[in-house]
Amino acid sequence: MFKATEIVAAAAANAEAECIEQLKKTDAIPLLMNFLLNQENVLCRDPTTVAAKLRKMVIGGAGKTVVISDFDYTLSRFENEQGERLSTTHGVFDDNVMRLKPELGQKFIDLKAKYYPIEFSPKLTMEEKIPHMETWWGTSHGLIINEKFSKSTIEEFVRQSRIVFRDGAEDFIQSLDAHNIPLVIFSAGIGNIIEYFLQQKLGAIPRNTHFISNMILFDEEDKACAFSEPLIHTFCKNSSVIQKETSFFHEIAGRVNVILLGDSMGDIHMDVGVERDGPTLKVGYYNGSLEDTEAMEHYEQVYDIVLVRDPTFTVAQKIVDVINSTH
Ligand code: TMP
Ligand code: MG
Repeated sequence: MFKATEIVAAAAANAEAECIEQLKKTDAIPLLMNFLLNQENVLCRDPTTVAAKLRKMVIGGAGKTVVISDFDYTLSRFENEQGERLSTTHGVFDDNVMRLKPELGQKFIDLKAKYYPIEFSPKLTMEEKIPHMETWWGTSHGLIINEKFSKSTIEEFVRQSRIVFRDGAEDFIQSLDAHNIPLVIFSAGIGNIIEYFLQQKLGAIPRNTHFISNMILFDEEDKACAFSEPLIHTFCKNSSVIQKETSFFHEIAGRVNVILLGDSMGDIHMDVGVERDGPTLKVGYYNGSLEDTEAMEHYEQVYDIVLVRDPTFTVAQKIVDVINSTH
């Protein structure tokens, strides 16, 4: 007599063997690698390693995959067609408050003008940047709480904002949901604003989508009164801020293969809270200057695939399509 666990294990082994056979026939990985390496805006320092990671991910299939993605300037676009900078989740306050209360709006804008260059400065170490990030987030959150913005005001701010999805990001999120691949949005931005944005753009937050982010807490009159703890800024996006009791953790247990999507150096450790022994494929959106070859080289060292000033989600979608197609 076989035990249920043995039957399940045998079925899994069979599915895996079948998948390996199918992979041999379909050329899915070489085709995907060919596509990647032929794109002008794709940098890939080590194609052999990328192909090996993809192979493991395809063999594991959707059931073994989780996507961990940054939001600001990763799922959302960095600039529009005219080259104008678009908004981050915090930036929703810059724009809208500027219209209503220019003095306060200017404070948000001044903070970004001062600290954004520090966040991306190649001259400072992460340790040197951290106190500045804590001051930036602390001051910005203090302004939001002091003003006691109401939930409905913030929802309206989001409606009027210049947050824009990268082309294809909406479909990407929907296709993950359709294939039961969990999406963890790990953001040092403001989680409520991402929620309102997804509700407004997609009609609802897909079941597969979860958040690790700074959440605005509201009082009984629905006025902003505090932020969730611990504070998440760009350089603490790792296991130190992940609460393992979070309800979705059971959903991602056993998901050994991670696709990590980010745009900053602070995003590369977003996978460390997930215990497992599978590969992480790190895809980095480089939004910086094309002249800054040093910065691009740095991205190439830490990300498996670097997408240079790519306003689309085409590459991430192709990777997920291949994972979904072979099982
Ligand atoms: P993330 O994209 O890594 O989650 O980080 C959030 C971004 O938000 C980061 O690039 C800094 C930016 N930010 C603002 O634009 N305005 C602010 O007030 C704060 C605190 C952060
Ligand atoms: Mg970002």
